[in-house]
Amino acid sequence: MGVGPGDPDLLTVAAVRAIAAADTVAYPVAREGAEGMAATIARPWLHQHQQHLPLLLPMVEDPATLRAAWGLAADRLAAERAAGRRVVLLCEGDVSLFASASYVLLALQQRHPALEVQLIPGITSVAAAAAAGAWPLALQRQGLLLLPTPETAAELDQLLAQAASGGWVLALLKLGRRWPWVRPLLEQRGLLEQALFAMRVGWPDQQLLPATEVAVRDAPYFSLLLIRQAWPGVLP
Ligand SMILES: C[S@@+](CC[C@H](N)C(=O)[O-])C[C@H]1O[C@@H](n2cnc3c(N)ncnc32)[C@H](O)[C@@H]1O
Repeated sequence: MGVGPGDPDLLTVAAVRAIAAADTVAYPVAREGAEGMAATIARPWLHQHQQHLPLLLPMVEDPATLRAAWGLAADRLAAERAAGRRVVLLCEGDVSLFASASYVLLALQQRHPALEVQLIPGITSVAAAAAAGAWPLALQRQGLLLLPTPETAAELDQLLAQAASGGWVLALLKLGRRWPWVRPLLEQRGLLEQALFAMRVGWPDQQLLPATEVAVRDAPYFSLLLIRQAWPGVLP
């Protein structure tokens, strides 16, 4: 289930109800002993009697390590069900958007096809950033392209040109360490004013700033950028 981007008030009623009905609450952790982002977000909604099941999903690129972790996570969830316990898996933001929960879902479908799984959507970081910044995401015939920040300035430059000609708004996730070269490129294209920088949306230290106000330094992993290059013709 999605638990939203940070603020415990941004869990859906469905998510809170499903947590209340669970015997076991599972959540991803990047390393042994960590609390995990999703568990931190949902903490006010957890109950004393519930078992906690941290699932180790390391942030690595090695395919064998990843597959082993996803498979083990799926097996541990299936074991909970086999033991007659109701289990929920928490996921930061939405369950279907760049989510580790999606890999666990695929592993479950492959390894435990008879297991019934219900997905509960969550508020995405993009929707929360747009709302917190009072920044309409898409209007009229505009498209919205939501993707990870490209790896190079040349790729981003091409993307910005395509978005300008297609009339698309861009939502760039996984901005973090790319910000030091993204900022000068936006400046060069005269787009800094029209870009909203959103950092740690929903957390007490959240920041929503026009990109002009954000210095060139590494942005945290939990940051994203919304870029609009043109507004539609008919507006109030
Ligand atoms: C692995 S993706 C997870 C997306 C998440 N499932 C969602 O629905 O928003 C991680 C990226 O999402 C964005 N993100 C997630 N939570 C955020 C937050 N609270 N504030 C700003 N960006 C966030 C960042 O760009 C981050 O690098």
